[in-house]
Parts: sequence; structure tokens; C-alpha cells
Amino acid sequence: MSETVSQKEWRTAITSNQDGKILIRGYNLDSLIGNKSYAEVCFLLLKGELPNQNEAKMLDAIFVSCIDAGIAAPSSVAARTVFSGGNSLNAAVAAGVLTLGDAHGGAIEKAAKMFQDYLKGKDGLKESEIKDMAANIVDDALKNKKRLAGYGHKLHTVDPRTKRLLEVAEDLNFGGDFIKLAVYIADEFKVKKPEQKLPLNVDGCIAAIISDMGFDYRLGKGFFIIARSAGLVGQVFEEWMREKPFRRLAANLHEYDGVPERELKKQ
Ligand SMILES: CC(C)(COP(=O)(O)OP(=O)(O)OC[C@H]1O[C@@H](n2cnc3c(N)ncnc32)[C@H](O)[C@@H]1OP(=O)(O)O)[C@@H](O)C(=O)NCCC(=O)NCCS
Repeated sequence: MSETVSQKEWRTAITSNQDGKILIRGYNLDSLIGNKSYAEVCFLLLKGELPNQNEAKMLDAIFVSCIDAGIAAPSSVAARTVFSGGNSLNAAVAAGVLTLGDAHGGAIEKAAKMFQDYLKGKDGLKESEIKDMAANIVDDALKNKKRLAGYGHKLHTVDPRTKRLLEVAEDLNFGGDFIKLAVYIADEFKVKKPEQKLPLNVDGCIAAIISDMGFDYRLGKGFFIIARSAGLVGQVFEEWMREKPFRRLAANLHEYDGVPERELKKQ
């Protein structure tokens, strides 16, 4: 039996913390501090190697694109409400993170899975083959009434973050098949369901870019959590500084539409 096989139950290949030294993927944290950005060390942590310059800029742009989207997003409402109920900053931020599901941030994971499933093992596709693939995906979604993760938006008919991220991706030479497929799907929606605006949203765009960067789709929601946690800390701190505890919805924002008052019959 090999002497090197670990018998310990808790194992990690990410960070070692021994003899006063913290090594992340083998790099001494002391040497990373002050020399590498937060995005670069996130890349190292998640992928095992340091990014090149373009990868580092791209990941940083992704984080910036979803850092916050205002007080009305479900995660901000939840975080501020939990704080308002008298809980701590960490409980409130965690509540915000708990809202991140298929419709909010979590669409990155589903969209990246779709792009990666379709393009798995298909290197060297012609442009026309990717367009055909996009057409088939949209036909199938419309026929079977499927919602494609990464498309559509409550507010935007063109998601401004997508537009900018795609420009940055192009400048940094990310323009692989995942990004092409993501954009062609949106083009197909424009033609086949023009009345319903279904743009490539920021989640879908991030999903395509992280796929192009070689990240596993299961990390999808993780990128959103890393970025949005900063926004949620800001939202909760503002709630703390500005608002009184125990917020209630204003009367004009809610109504009761159940049965009217009724008598309890004596038995
Ligand atoms: C973001 C989202 C919740 C916005 O929804 P909305 O604008 O309120 O749209 P609705 O839920 O009212 O749907 C309206 C129609 O568009 C269709 N539709 C909406 N999003 C769709 C999508 N992603 N793919 C296919 N069809 C979609 C609905 O099926 C519905 O069709 P119908 O009128 O034929 O029944 C929705 O587009 C969605 O679920 N997208 C996928 C998840 C996602 O990417 N979330 C990240 C958001 S940044």
C-alpha cells in the first residue's frame, strides 16, 4: 500500500495552513498580497492556476457587472428585511444570498450547463453549424414551452451589462463558440418571438464567458455569489445606517383579497 495515500477524512488541495505559512494552490499568501488582485486570486482558488492578464481582466469585469442591481432586487429586499427584523449583518447578507436561485443569479449555472452540454466535444464547428444549433435550441424551447436560462429580463429589452461585457470579451480576445452560441440564441429569439423581448441577460452572458474560460458550469452561481456579496454588504450597511428597524410594507403596496370577516358559528 502506498505510504502517500492520505487516511485523513478532511482533505483539501486548495489551501495549506501549516508552520505559520498560508499557501493557496502552493503560492504563499504573503506573495499574493499586494501583487495579485482579488479577481486573480479567485481565479487561482477556483481553477488551480493563476490567470493570464486577459483572463484576470475578464473575471474582474464579470464581478463588477453583477456587484449590485439596486434595492428592488430580491436579494437586496431579503437582506434588508432580515436586517430590519433585528438580525446581524452576516445573517442579513446570508438571507440575500439564499434568494439566488434559477431566476436570480442562479441562471448562470443553468445557462452554462446548456452551453457546455451542447458544445461538449464539438471543437472546430463552423459558424453556420453554431447558428443551426442555436436555431434548434430556440425551436425546441418554443415548441415545448421551455424557459431558457440566461434570456429575458424584467426591466431591460437589451441588458446593458451584457452589451458591455461582450465588448470587453471581444477586446480581450474571448469570442469562442460558447459566446457565439449564446448570442445566436438571442438573435433567434428576436426573429422567432419578437413580441416577447428575450435578450441575452447578464447571467447568460456570464455563463457563456465562464464557459469560454474553461470553468465548470457548477461554479456558475458561485461567481454571482462572490460578486453580489459585496453589494449585499453595502445594502445591509445602508439599511443599518439609514432606516429604523421593523420595516413594514407601505399601505399602498399591499392588500388583502381573501374572504371578508365572518362569524364563528357556535357549536
Ligand atoms: C427573467 C425573467 C424572470 C423575466 O420574466 P418576465 O419578463 O416577467 O416574463 P414572463 O415570465 O411574464 O414570461 C412572458 C413570456 O415569455 C416567455 N419567456 C420568458 N423568459 C423566457 C426564456 N428565458 N426563455 C423562453 N421563453 C421565455 C414565457 O414563457 C412567457 O411566454 P408566453 O407569453 O408564451 O406564456 C424570465 O425571462 C426568465 O425566467 N428568464 C430565465 C431565467 C433568467 O435568465 N434569469 C436571470 C435574470 S437576470
